[in-house]
Amino acid sequence: MTTEPTWPCAAIRDADLAPRTTMRVGGRARWLFEPAHPDEFVEAWRAAREEGLEVRVLGGGANVLVSDDGFDGAVFSTARMARIFRPHREEGADWSAGAEERVGEASLGRVGATGDESEPCELVVWAGKGLLALVRATRELGWSGLEPLAGVPGHLGGGIAMNAGGRYGELWDVVRRVRLLLPDGEIVERERAECNPSYRNGNLGDAIVLGAVLGFERSTRHTVEERVRELLREKSAAQPLTEHSSGCIFKNPDPELSDGRSAGKLIEDVGGKQLSRGAAVVSPKHGNFIVNTGGARALDVIGLIEDLRRLVRDRTGIELETEVRIW
Ligand code: EPU
Repeated sequence: MTTEPTWPCAAIRDADLAPRTTMRVGGRARWLFEPAHPDEFVEAWRAAREEGLEVRVLGGGANVLVSDDGFDGAVFSTARMARIFRPHREEGADWSAGAEERVGEASLGRVGATGDESEPCELVVWAGKGLLALVRATRELGWSGLEPLAGVPGHLGGGIAMNAGGRYGELWDVVRRVRLLLPDGEIVERERAECNPSYRNGNLGDAIVLGAVLGFERSTRHTVEERVRELLREKSAAQPLTEHSSGCIFKNPDPELSDGRSAGKLIEDVGGKQLSRGAAVVSPKHGNFIVNTGGARALDVIGLIEDLRRLVRDRTGIELETEVRIW
């Protein structure tokens, strides 16, 4: 009889991944790890590697498409690593839970309560903090910078890895420093200036984001709230935000090649909005979204992605590149 390894964090055997992604498709993971602290994450990551398991990180599940076969390895969920702190004034970022006692966890009232204008508008955020909650937190504080991320699902870590954002700005606009777990197991911190993020790409290679220090401009709650509301209105008119999708499927092509047309517009122009496979349907609202109308399989979604790519290539010569990551 083989015995199961004992892991240094909460672990679920044979975990269903579909409910943990916004598209709601895909199979199971041999192991799903749920570390509650970045140190626990690193320990479990090392243990999984020692067991010879292949490792993947699942944040908010907003930008991944899990295949129907699932993943025969260890998936790390960041869902329980959702803390947010003010950096300690003298010592700067303190990444451990110990920092909470000194600077107060961002149960927002307390974070916003100091009223000290000289205090830098900075937050230490762990990788699993949901972007929606993070936007809310900075709105409560009256700190500006994350408004362009309003309505973007997912967690901070994945958002940094792929430089989530939209036409008004991106996540790296507020990143001052990142804490990374490198593929060789080393933990490093990198300043913004040492990193080279680009459109929808944090350019971090295979490094895993454990957390970040984010910096904002002081504004007022009212101003930030108005802007967030405005962007959410605009977005919900243009995108199927309440349906199961992975957000934009393709990156926007180089505007010089596409005459400035976005991927969604290109797909609409070539008739891609009429396409579907099973319960996977191109959104009538936005051509760059595929929605799971109920019970779609990953096979349908992946097939439909290829149908769209082929259609756009045949009609325009433009090769669309997927933004969503396929496992
Ligand atoms: N358009 C159409 N038909 C469509 C879709 C779009 O004509 O079916 C037109 C729109 O009317 C607009 C233009 O194409 O004139 C651009 O569309 P949109 O404003 O929706 O922006 P986008 O370029 O498609 C980008 C990001 C979104 C982000 C929005 C808003 C990419 C691939 N997409 O979309 O990000 O929410 O700007 O800031 O960069 C995501 O990354 O998952 C995502 C949804």
